[in-house]
Amino acid sequence: MSKWIGTSNHGFSPYGMEELRRLFPQIQFKQLLPGEVYQFEVSEESDEVLQQLAHAELIFVRHVQPIDRELLLNGDADDQLQAAAAMIAYIDSSVAGKQVAVHVRMSRQHSLAATKQQLKQAMDQALIEAGATPVLKEPELIIAVFVHEDQLLVGFATPEEMGSDWPGGAIRFQREEGQVSRAKFKLLEAEKVFGLDYSQYKSAIDVGAAPGGWTSLLLERGLKVTAIDPAAMDERIAHHPALTHLRMNASAVKLPKASHDLLVCDMSWSPLEMCKLILQLKSALKANAYAIVTVKLMHKKGLQSIREVKQRLSSAFTVLGAKQLFHNREEITLFLQKKG
Ligand SMILES: C[S@@+](CC[C@H](N)C(=O)[O-])C[C@H]1O[C@@H](n2cnc3c(N)ncnc32)[C@H](O)[C@@H]1O
Repeated sequence: MSKWIGTSNHGFSPYGMEELRRLFPQIQFKQLLPGEVYQFEVSEESDEVLQQLAHAELIFVRHVQPIDRELLLNGDADDQLQAAAAMIAYIDSSVAGKQVAVHVRMSRQHSLAATKQQLKQAMDQALIEAGATPVLKEPELIIAVFVHEDQLLVGFATPEEMGSDWPGGAIRFQREEGQVSRAKFKLLEAEKVFGLDYSQYKSAIDVGAAPGGWTSLLLERGLKVTAIDPAAMDERIAHHPALTHLRMNASAVKLPKASHDLLVCDMSWSPLEMCKLILQLKSALKANAYAIVTVKLMHKKGLQSIREVKQRLSSAFTVLGAKQLFHNREEITLFLQKKG
């Protein structure tokens, strides 16, 4: 038996829970943060759960943490902090010499008398005493703490096992001065989640490109970009020498064969129409070219429309990944590779 906490984008926990139920039919759920964070219990032991999760490619489960310890919150702030710090001793042998991040998240109702920051500091101090190095970035091990009602639910695992090296998978990028649009974060997150490096490509097609957040990222990474959109591109990139803006509907575009090695599409439009346009443009892609595509989830029929989209695109593309990214709203992101 093992206990876990799962996290999905706000409002999407029913989808995440459904995906987990398909993997573990006997699963029991308890809501921790409505629509978003849920505790679950399965009859399988931790190792088996981790193995199944690693192969399941869940779309809507953004983050999981095991619950290895449940600490009852007693006494005043000092008592609680001491008890939390003492817990590190239990995992002493596995933290020594490691770079460890403590991630603290809170439920709306809890009886922690200290602040989140104080709790993190107390655990960081205990880690130092145990021979570990507390870090914020690129940890080898994460100690995840979820404060819920009168309990600390604590689990330790690697970033890969949790599905992210950010607390609850809520990845934050720094907003830059003069950034064209927030949409850029979606493409940045896709790069990280799907293990890409955009600077390895030469020329990209950006379908539905305006105002140009995605295009601006690709230009920054040194790519030539063919941006397709009837709407205007932001003035700050519109005259970039590596940008060709085709100011028209994507259905009317004809591009030279095998002229691009990356396609990105963030049209925020009917998923099936989007498939049609992408398939129309496929000949402009080289064999084995990659594509990053946002799929809008229409009218609560999310899982069904994802299945349909994957099926349609599979005539020309292999689906390498499908994930609801933290920066996706009512949508998910697909990672595709053109068949050779
Ligand atoms: C959500 S915005 C894209 C934002 C963009 N990724 C960014 O980073 O700034 C969607 C864009 O798709 C464009 N669009 C919708 N349907 C289109 C079509 N059939 N052909 C070309 N562009 C289309 C819209 O004009 C709109 O500018």
